[in-house]
Amino acid sequence: MKKKDLKKVAVLVSGGGSNLQALLDATRSGEIPAEITLVISNKPEVYAIKRAEDSGIPAIVLDHRDFASAEEFSRAILKRLQETEVDLVCLAGFLRILAPCVPEAYPNRILNIHPALLPAFGGKGLYGMRVHQAVLASGVKYSGATVHIVTAEPDQGPIVCQEVVPVKDDDTPQSLADRVLQVEHRIYPEALRLLAEELIEVDGLRTRLKTKPN
Ligand code: GRF
Repeated sequence: MKKKDLKKVAVLVSGGGSNLQALLDATRSGEIPAEITLVISNKPEVYAIKRAEDSGIPAIVLDHRDFASAEEFSRAILKRLQETEVDLVCLAGFLRILAPCVPEAYPNRILNIHPALLPAFGGKGLYGMRVHQAVLASGVKYSGATVHIVTAEPDQGPIVCQEVVPVKDDDTPQSLADRVLQVEHRIYPEALRLLAEELIEVDGLRTRLKTKPN
């Protein structure tokens, strides 16, 4: 596919960047008609930045602590996204809530990955290891990962991909997190492919696969 036809993607990160790496590998392989052209981290010196630099991708730090409010931080991110003319945005281990101005500027064009089967175990305060602790405490026998479209309501956008994993009797939060992370690395590239190929139709909270792109 010619470079000009590739969707330009920005990836927002806060930590290790294993989901960023999965997206980098998938876009580099040509299986997704997209290229990652910018990485934005809200934290300096996280391994995700090194992953971007090792791949020759511009990485910038917009430290949320440098801004007077979440709104100002979000507007600074929005400005960078618009300046670099990205088409799509992926939140990958990004731990800040974006103000509505960002999803409003990119309707149905921002994805997020959550390490549980939303809408269960999502929302305020449920991120990272806290999700797996809550899953184990609840006694459910299955968990998994969800890729959803980002809207103004955290963790409540239309779901694009999900995959289930078993919760085992001897699981710890870490062993469950490791099992879910493997699923994340599979379904996030698949969700980005569907979005980049314009195969996702959004109907309220539901998404359906189009038989062919627009
Ligand atoms: C993952 O569990 C992801 O679901 C959550 O952040 C964790 C770390 O992601 N959003 P990464 O390794 O930084 O991509």
